[in-house]
Order: sequence, then C-alpha cells, then structure tokens
Amino acid sequence: MKTTTNLLILFLSLLMSACSQNKTPDAQKASAVFSINSNYLLLPIEDNAPEIRMQVKYNDEQPVEVINLRLAHVKADYWVKLDVANYKGSKITIDFENTEKNSWGVKNIKQSDKFEFDYNETYRPQFHFSPEYGWMNDPNGMVYLDGEYHLFYQYNPYGTKWQNMHWGHAVSTDLNSWTYLPTAIAPDSLGAIFSGSAVIDVNNTAGFGKNAMVAIYTSAGRVQSQSIAYSTDKGRTFTKYEGNPVIPNPGIPDFRDPKVFWHNESNQWIMSLATKQTITFYGSANLKSWTRLSEFGDGIGSHGGVWECPDLIPLTYNGKTKWVLIVSINPGGPNGGSATQYFIGDFDGKTFRADALPYPLWMDYGRDNYAGVTWSNIPENDGRKIFMGWMSNWDYANNVPTKNCRSAMTVARELKIANNGKHLVVSNYPVSETKTLRALESAIKDVVVEKEVVISNLLDKNKGTYEIEMTLKPQNAGIFGFMLQNSKNEELEFRFDMTTGFFSIHRHKSGLVDFEGRFAAGMNAPLVKKDAYKVRLLVDKASAEIFINEGELALTTIFFPTEVMNKLKFYTNEGKFSAEHIKIYQIK
Ligand code: FRU
Repeated sequence: MKTTTNLLILFLSLLMSACSQNKTPDAQKASAVFSINSNYLLLPIEDNAPEIRMQVKYNDEQPVEVINLRLAHVKADYWVKLDVANYKGSKITIDFENTEKNSWGVKNIKQSDKFEFDYNETYRPQFHFSPEYGWMNDPNGMVYLDGEYHLFYQYNPYGTKWQNMHWGHAVSTDLNSWTYLPTAIAPDSLGAIFSGSAVIDVNNTAGFGKNAMVAIYTSAGRVQSQSIAYSTDKGRTFTKYEGNPVIPNPGIPDFRDPKVFWHNESNQWIMSLATKQTITFYGSANLKSWTRLSEFGDGIGSHGGVWECPDLIPLTYNGKTKWVLIVSINPGGPNGGSATQYFIGDFDGKTFRADALPYPLWMDYGRDNYAGVTWSNIPENDGRKIFMGWMSNWDYANNVPTKNCRSAMTVARELKIANNGKHLVVSNYPVSETKTLRALESAIKDVVVEKEVVISNLLDKNKGTYEIEMTLKPQNAGIFGFMLQNSKNEELEFRFDMTTGFFSIHRHKSGLVDFEGRFAAGMNAPLVKKDAYKVRLLVDKASAEIFINEGELALTTIFFPTEVMNKLKFYTNEGKFSAEHIKIYQIK
C-alpha cells in the first residue's frame, strides 16, 4: 500500500515538473516592437545578469541577427548599441528568450542618435590598443597594405564578456596609435567569426581581384570549419565567399584559427590550423580548395590544454633560414592558464620538423600574452616579423575590473632568433617605433644596492604611462630586484633569483587582485645566469611588459593599482648589486 502511494506521488510530481518545464520557456519569452526614428537602439547591460538570446527582425522578415547578451535585470552597468540608422521609418521586432514580459531590461531599451560611454575609465591603456568599447580577445587578420597596418580582433560589440564573435577592425601607420574602423566581419548562418588571418592576394590566385585582401577565419557554429571573405577596398568592407566553408569540419571539435602565408619555394598558400593538440598544415593554389599536407605536435612541447592560434614564419639566424612554429595553448601555460609556446626547426613546403631544443619554450613567461601571431605582407625592404598578442589570460579575462572595455593588446614586438647563452630562443622586443612614444627623459645616477635604495618620485605628474630602462649587475647578490610602488602600499615586484636561476613577477599586492581567485598568483621564468641584465619595462596604466636582454626573456603582466605607482624600490636579500644607466621616460 505504502509503495503504491509513493509511486503515485512520484508519478504526480514527475507530471507536475514536466508541465512546469513545458510552461516555463513560453512564460519567459518577451517581445518588443520599435518604430525606428533614431540611429541607435540602446540596450542596458548588467554584467551579472544571465546571458539570454535575442533575435532581431526588421519589418517582420526572418531574424537577421541573433545576439547573446546580458540584458539588465535591475540596473544598467553600461549600454550597448544596435545600429538601426538604415531602418529609420520602419519597424524592428526583437524576441527575447528566457526573459520575462515585463523585464526591466526590455522596458528600458531606448532610441537615441548618440551612443555614449566612458572612454576614459581608470584602466584604459594609453599606448596599447584596446577596443573602443566592448570585449576583445585575440588579434586577427594582421596584414600590412599601402602604408596601413591592419589589426582585426575577436570582438563582442554587445558586452564586455566573451560572446558574439565578430572581427573588430583598426588601422595604424606607426604601430603605436590606432584608428577605429567599423566592425569588419559579422556572424552568419555558419556561425560566429573566430580567429584567423589575412593575406594580400598579389597575383589574384583566388579571382577576387589583384591585391584583394583575403581574410581566412573559423566559422564557429554547430561545428568549426574554415571560411574566407575578401575586400577590394583596403579592408573597409568584406564580402563572404559563397562557397564557404572552404575546409569543412572533419569530425573534430577543436578545428580552428587558420594562419596563411604564401610559400614561394613550393608555389602555394600554406595554412597552419590548430587541430585539437596538434597543428595541421594545408596547401592551396587559390585559397579556396585546400589539401592536407602534414601534422605536427604529437609528443612534443606542452600538451596541458588545447592548441590554438598557430603561426609558421621564417626567420634568419646566422645567415640561414630557420622556421618558427608559434602555438598558443590553453590551459597549460608555464604559470597557469593561457600562454604561447614555439618550436624552431625547418619547413620544406609540406612538413615542419623541430630541432632538438628543451621544449616547451615560451614566447613570454608572463601570464598576459596570448594568441599572438605576426603581420603578413610586411614589405621586403622592411622584412621584420612583427608580433602582437592579447594581453590577458582565459583564467580571468572575463572578470578583470574594467567596465566599458575589456582587454588590450601587447605592444607590437619584433621577433628574432637569438642565443640566450644556453640555447636558441625566439626573442621578442618592442618594435623600434615604440621609442617615438618617449616624451620627457630623466636619468638617475647609478646605484649600488645593499639592502634597499628607493627612488621616491619617478616622474612629476605621473599618469601611469612610463618606461624604465636600466642595466642590472648582480655582483654577489643572491635574490635581488625592484618594485614599483605607490602610497597605498601596493607593489609590483620583479625578482631575480640567482640562487635558483629564476626570474619572477609578483602581483599579489599590486592593487585589485581578488576579482578572480587565479589572478593573484605570480609568474616564474628560467633565468640564465649572466653578469648583466639589460632591462626595459613598459608600463601603461594596468599593464607592465618587461624585456630582459633585448627580449631574450619577456614577461607581460596586467595589474590594477588603485593609485599610480610612482616609486621605484631596489632591494637585495643578501650581497649587493648595481643598477646602472637608469632612465625613466614619460610616455606621451
Ligand atoms: C583563443 C581562441 C581561439 C578562438 C577564439 C575565439 O583565445 O580560443 O582559438 O578562435 O579564441 O574567440
């Protein structure tokens, strides 16, 4: 008897929960209609609200845009815009899923001819690229054409967390200052627009026109596949190829981030593609049909996470060409989360073979340089391989304490092969153009440090954008280094440990650190023992990039001080060291 009652109760409760499951989605669908008379619809966003899906229909036609966003529940943290200028006089219907009919967010959507946001928020970098507003991750499609360096990037125009991947776009003539251009490539029925590259089709191999700019990217929908789009107006507008995808998904989930270059020797385009935890190379005569050539990566390098954003480039060392394969990996970086490893070897037009080196080798041992690749089509008379990375880490990128915009890129860096005294490395060092950013220069007398020496005022009216150059000579010091400090007892520490042979950065006391549990941890890099270390440190509000011995060792870190760090403290735990040729530059 008891059992029968229990079964009945179970049956009834299952029935009720089934009914309520059926009912919930309906009850939570909202719809709003707008007669458009302005340039923009402004949508209120609250970063802690759950993500919902909205579909935008213009004049009752099929939905043309599907957007995932955190529509505000009770208050707007900030606003995002839907550009509706072309629909003035017509009707726009927006359907919202998982949204109550009377939701505060829906009710507060407004029309406006202006879109305003706080561009100058505290941690906005001054000489690093950051998106005008919204979320940014990887640099994409970096290509040089007719005096302009193009920088496309993974971009969410509808919020400051990762979503709705578009290619944002900016150009620069000097790699220092950037002009924002309209979003270049938007999601379509094949999916969001993930990372990829761009080339200039000098010989019109694809038939889109001589010198067409061709973007090769991942369409990330139900599966990941590779697509192309072209521009014949210097990247201002792109047309998607009607034959997309050009490489369909072969049945693996992680299949992305195509980086393409023209390989003269084998007379074809070569694509490096991240395929789970390997890189697969493809070849093509026309950018449209691709043949699989080979695969690299099994049993070599770091495999702590998925491989992403490859780049295969030739560099000259001792008069000979060496090929470098750059591979980002997440997680599995040397200090947790995301990082970029590389391999040095040879490439014959089909196969990449790595030299025997102590892999994994990391482009940057800091925690904030990810998904970096190089510019294509740099003129021969320049010949540099110029690299730029995303200055964040998937461990915490979505939660860093900024509001209207999230994340910046590193400065542009030149890649070279160098010998660090133990083995070959790929050095990365700010491009020479960065020196033109220097304004006021002040020299500080050489110091010999026993215990500590404090320089209490680096710059008058320090706005948090500066550069320090110096040579540190360890002499007989064991652990020594320097710290940037402010009057709030916040500090960012750079430590040379000659006893263990490690260089490290410690940011646990650097200001706001507890927005994400994994942020505060420090970062270590192997340090080759030398008599002198040439140091160059670039600070831009919320980031520090340190280059040791012309980038033989590089570490990038972001940090969020609550006051500018205008004090420099040298310290040693035992013995003494000297700091020589110290120069402080204010950055324009
Ligand atoms: C790397 C990455 C890429 C992908 C993109 C998506 O940070 O995960 O592999 O294409 O971001 O935004």
